[in-house]
Amino acid sequence: MSNLITLPGLIDCHVHFREPGFEHKATLKSEAASARAGGVHTVCEMPNTSPPTVTIAALADKVRRADEITDCDIRFFFGVTQPPHLTTLIDLWTSDTEELKRLKKRCCGVKLYLDHSTGNQKVDMDLAEEVFAASGKLNIPVVAHCEDPETNNVASAANSSDDVSAHSKIRPAKSEAKSIQGAIALSKKYNAPFHIAHLSTRDGIELVRAAKKEGLPVTCEVAPHHLFLTEDDYDRLGTLAKMNPPLRSKEHLDALWAGIEDGTVDCVATDHAPHLLAEKRSGAPLDAPSGVPGVETALPLLLTRLDPDTIKRLMFTNPNKIFHLGKTETDDHITIDLDQEWEIHAKDLHSKCDWTPFEGMKVKGKIV
Ligand code: DOR
Ligand code: ZN
Repeated sequence: MSNLITLPGLIDCHVHFREPGFEHKATLKSEAASARAGGVHTVCEMPNTSPPTVTIAALADKVRRADEITDCDIRFFFGVTQPPHLTTLIDLWTSDTEELKRLKKRCCGVKLYLDHSTGNQKVDMDLAEEVFAASGKLNIPVVAHCEDPETNNVASAANSSDDVSAHSKIRPAKSEAKSIQGAIALSKKYNAPFHIAHLSTRDGIELVRAAKKEGLPVTCEVAPHHLFLTEDDYDRLGTLAKMNPPLRSKEHLDALWAGIEDGTVDCVATDHAPHLLAEKRSGAPLDAPSGVPGVETALPLLLTRLDPDTIKRLMFTNPNKIFHLGKTETDDHITIDLDQEWEIHAKDLHSKCDWTPFEGMKVKGKIV
């Protein structure tokens, strides 16, 4: 028996493919294969590589590398951590030289880290405000990793545990809410198109719901790990459950699902962030690198809870529109047999990192 449906090739608007600089963790080629196997044909890749994507030369280098990849359309976010990066971004958006016009087509917007995460790209709030101002004028999509550094620092200083579960306490839910509130205020002030990355909290959902009601140009994504895992999974997964923002309690997970149901959540994006098992498992747990792979497992996980039309909205229609990706439904499609049930095992996946936080989970839908 089979029960076949088709969807357009999916879009994951938040991945870390690690190249250049961290090819021991992953490469554009290895992770594009992983994306393809998961039904994802277009990705938006983050700037925390080495060198970081904060110059025209770095963007041009990534575009050149992506041109070699045939199984996935890879677009890139530009990063801003210093004032000259913003000058370059404005140049990229406004120049009419053929070269910059070509590169702009492959750039999906600007990414800001409002607190430190992997790659240390934290931007200070004065410069962040200038980025929102430019974004409002030039219609550049701004994506932000929203955590408040002060709140995280205070929570860190108060922590005495070295258990990995303390990660959720030293980057608390209220830190995300405070940061989102500040960033939405900037989006409102400058009428800047603003997208919140990997939103993980109930208060975050409420802030986005209110912003949308007010008619602000605010959108958000949630990640599969925040939809299918909670703090209770630290016992089972140890540092494999460590990412930024961290896992939360069930109450937050339920609020994210409610946000999907009422349309507050625009996209599911994986924050696919491969690190080697050896890196995840060596040293003190709280020093383990943050991040989990997810690009290949998002679709079968979502199929356990959502109908195909909702998945299409979250992983095609909305990201395509928010980031002006210019994909059409007829570009290419995937065929899924909804009747096939299977278990996720890292040995069957394609990411170079060779592990998954969803090991053993029962899912639905095989790409045929
Ligand atoms: O968990 C995370 N991993 N969060 C981030 O913000 C960055 C990412 C990475 O690059 O590893
Ligand atoms: Zn990320």
